[in-house]
Amino acid sequence: MKNTILSRLMRIEILILLLSYLTSISSKQIDDILVYTVATSETDGFKRYLESAAEYNIQPTVLGWGQEWKGGEDIRHRAGGGWKVNLLKEALQPYKDDKDRLVLFTDGYDVMFLSNLRTITDEFKKTEARVLFGAESACWPDETLTSLYPVPKQGKRFLNSGLYIGYIPEILELLNRKPLVDTDDDQLFFTQAYLDEKMRSQLKFKLDHTSQIFQNLNGAINEVELFTENEKENPELHLQNAVTHTRPLIVHGNGPSKLKLNALGNYLARAWMPNQGCRHCKRGHIDLQKKTASEMPLVYLALFIEQASPFLEEQLQKVYDLEYPKKRIHLFIHNGVKYHTPHVADFVEKYGKAYLSLKQITAEDGISEWSARDLSLDQCLLKECELYFSVDSVSHLDNPHTLRLLAEQNRTVVAPLLVRPGKAWSNFWGALTTDGFYARSHDYMDIVHSDKRGLWNVPFLSNCYLINATLLRQYDRAKLNHVRGNLDADMAFCANLRDLDVFLFVSNRVDFGHLVNPESYDITRSTPDMYQIFDNERDWEERYIHSDYPENFNPDKKPLQPCPDVYWSPIVTKRFCKDLIQMMENFGKWSDGKNQDDRLTGGYEAVPTRDIHMNQVGWEPHWLLFLQRYVRPIQEHIFTGYFHDPPRSLMNFVVRYKPGEQPSLRPHHDSSTYTINIALNEVGQDYEGGGCRFIRYNCSVTDTKEGWMLMHPGRLTHYHEGLLVTKGVRYIMIAFVDP
Ligand SMILES: *[C@@H]1O[C@H](CO)[C@@H](O)[C@H](O)[C@H]1NC(C)=O
Ligand SMILES: *[C@@H]1O[C@H](CO)[C@@H](O)[C@H](O)[C@H]1NC(C)=O
Ligand SMILES: *[C@@H]1O[C@H](CO)[C@@H](O)[C@H](O)[C@H]1NC(C)=O
Repeated sequence: MKNTILSRLMRIEILILLLSYLTSISSKQIDDILVYTVATSETDGFKRYLESAAEYNIQPTVLGWGQEWKGGEDIRHRAGGGWKVNLLKEALQPYKDDKDRLVLFTDGYDVMFLSNLRTITDEFKKTEARVLFGAESACWPDETLTSLYPVPKQGKRFLNSGLYIGYIPEILELLNRKPLVDTDDDQLFFTQAYLDEKMRSQLKFKLDHTSQIFQNLNGAINEVELFTENEKENPELHLQNAVTHTRPLIVHGNGPSKLKLNALGNYLARAWMPNQGCRHCKRGHIDLQKKTASEMPLVYLALFIEQASPFLEEQLQKVYDLEYPKKRIHLFIHNGVKYHTPHVADFVEKYGKAYLSLKQITAEDGISEWSARDLSLDQCLLKECELYFSVDSVSHLDNPHTLRLLAEQNRTVVAPLLVRPGKAWSNFWGALTTDGFYARSHDYMDIVHSDKRGLWNVPFLSNCYLINATLLRQYDRAKLNHVRGNLDADMAFCANLRDLDVFLFVSNRVDFGHLVNPESYDITRSTPDMYQIFDNERDWEERYIHSDYPENFNPDKKPLQPCPDVYWSPIVTKRFCKDLIQMMENFGKWSDGKNQDDRLTGGYEAVPTRDIHMNQVGWEPHWLLFLQRYVRPIQEHIFTGYFHDPPRSLMNFVVRYKPGEQPSLRPHHDSSTYTINIALNEVGQDYEGGGCRFIRYNCSVTDTKEGWMLMHPGRLTHYHEGLLVTKGVRYIMIAFVDP
C-alpha cells in the first residue's frame, strides 16, 4: 500500500521535473525570436497592440519611438513606409550572424496578437519557408504587377508587408536587396523581391495564403468570424477564417478594415471573455474616489439644447446632481431653442453660481450647433480643462456617478451607453455602412440590452461623451471640429476622430441613464410634456405619477374608504394637476353649463357642468392610456373580480366649480360602472367649500387631497352631488368608466 503511494509520488515528481525541463526548452525557443514593430507615438491602436502582446507574454521592440514619422505623409493609405524597412535593417545588424534566430515584424497601430510566440514559431516551421509574409486580396501599390504573381491553390494571392516572419539571415538579405529611402514604399519593395523568381526560391520566400498565421483583414472582413470554444471551462473568443478554416495568430486591420479590427478587438486577445466579462476595461483605470475635491480633474461641461426636448427640467437637474465637485467644473450652455429659454433661466438662477464658471449662449445669439460645439472645445482649452464632457438635452444621466466613472475609465473618448427605454435606439452605432451611415453590428442588441457589459470600441457615438483634453491639444483644431461637408455635427466629429485613429468607446459596465425621444414633442401645445405618455413613458411616469402610487397595492395596507365603497388613492403628482389645469385654462373653452351640448352624441346632458372634454384638447388617447395603465390596476385591486381591459370611457373631462359660474352640482347618477374623480387643487388654499356627498349614506368627502383619486360605483347605490364651492375655483378630473 505504502509502496504504491510512494511510487506514485515519485512518478509525479519525475513528471514535474520533465515538465519544467520542457518549459525551459520552450522558453529558450521563445528567446530565439525577435519581435519588432514601428511606432512613433502612443495611439489608441498602439495601446491595444501592446495590450494584446502583454496578454501573450510578448515584448516587442518598438522602433522609431518618439521620432517624427519619416515614412511619408499618408501612412493611412499605406503609401511610404520605407523607413520601417530601414529601421529594421539597422536594428538587426547586431544579430546578422545569428543563423537560427527568427525575426517577427508587425505593424503597430492596427495589429493584435492572438497567440503566443511558441505557437507562432511552430506554425511558421510547418510552412518550411525561411521567409513568410502575410497575404491579401489586392495587388497594391502597383496593380500592373498582378499577372506576375503566382496563383496559389487556395487563399489570397498578393503580398502585404504589415506582418512577416523569417530567419534573420534571409530577412537581412531581403532587406539589403537594394537601398531604399524612407519615403519609398515598403510593400512595393518586398513585392519586387517576391516577384523575383530566383530570390523567391533562394530565400524560400512564401506567402501565408490561407492565414495559418497572418490575417490581413482588408478584403477579407466577411471571411472572418469570432469563435468560442464552448467545451472549455473558461472559453475565450478566437478569430476564425471561415473560408480557409484556419485560426490566425496575428490580425492586421489594414486600410479600410481597421473598423472591423476595432469591432473584433472588443473580444480578441481575451479583451472580453464570456465568463470573465470585460478584461480590457481594467487597463489604465484611475481611482478618483479617494481624491480631494481640488485634486479632481478639471472638467469643461458643455450642455447642448439643439432641439426641443421633453423633460428638460429633469435632465438639467440630473446634470446638477452629478456627484462631482462643482468647483472643478466650468459650465457651458448652448440653448438653440427659444422654447427652453425659461427652463435654462431657472436652472442658471438656481445653480449657475455653484460652478467654477458659466458661459451661456442663448437662442437669441443665433449661433449654429456646429459653431457652438466648436466654440465649446476652444473654451475648454482656454480654461485649461483636463476633461471635456459633452451632454445633449436628450441625455438623462440617471446615475449621479456617471462623470466620475467615465473619468476613471481613462480613455481618450468614452461615452456612457444611453438607450431609449424599451427601444433599440441608443447613442452609438455598432458598425458603419461603406458611406459612413448606420449599420447594425452582430453584438448591437446584446450591448443595448446590456446582456453583455463592457467597454466597446465603436465607430460612432453621440449625445454624451467624455474626452481627455490631451487629445484636443495634440492636434490642430481644424482636424478636430464638427464640420465636414453637410454632415450633422456629431457625424462630422466622429468621422474626424476616426480619421485620427482615435477609438470611440461606449461603456455599459453599469447603467448610466437613458435617452428621451424628442420626435413627437410638440411645443405648440401649452403643456407638451403631458402628451409624452406614449413616447417617453418612463419620464412621464416619473414626473406625473404620485410617488406613493405603489402603496395602493401594499398588501399590508387597507385602502382608504372615506364613505362606503368610495375609495381614495394617491395617483398623480401636484405637477400633473398644475399642468392639466394649465392645459384646460389655456384652451379656455369651458362649456356653458346648459343641457344642450353639441359635444355629445345625443346633444343633451341632463346634469351639465362647466367642463372641457379631453378630446377637445387632443388628450383623450393619452388619458385612456393613463386609465388603462394606472387606474385599472387600482380598480382590480379594490373591486375584485371585475376585469375590463382596456377600460372604456367616453366621458373624460375636467370640471370647474366657481361661485358666480357654477358652484355646485345637483344629485345625480353617473352613466358608468365606476367613476373616478381626481382632485386637481387644494381645498383651503385654492378654494373653500366643495366636495362630494353620497346621499344614500349621508356621507361627504370634503377634505379632498390634490393628486388623490376617489373611485366609486356610478349607479344605483352612489347617488351623489357636488357640494357648494363658496370661494375660489375648484377643479376636478372626471371619467365615467365602462358606461
Ligand atoms: C491613463 O492612461 C494613460 C494612457 O493610456 C496611461 O499612461 C496612464 O498610466 C493611465 N493612468 C493610470 C492612473 O493608470
Ligand atoms: C489624459 O491622457 C493623458 C495621456 O494619456 C494622461 O496622462 C492623463 O492622465 C489623462 N487625463 C485624465 C484627466 O484622465
Ligand atoms: C347627515 O349628516 C349630517 C352631518 O354628519 C347630519 O347633520 C345630518 O343630520 C344627517 N342627515 C341625515 C338625514 O341623517
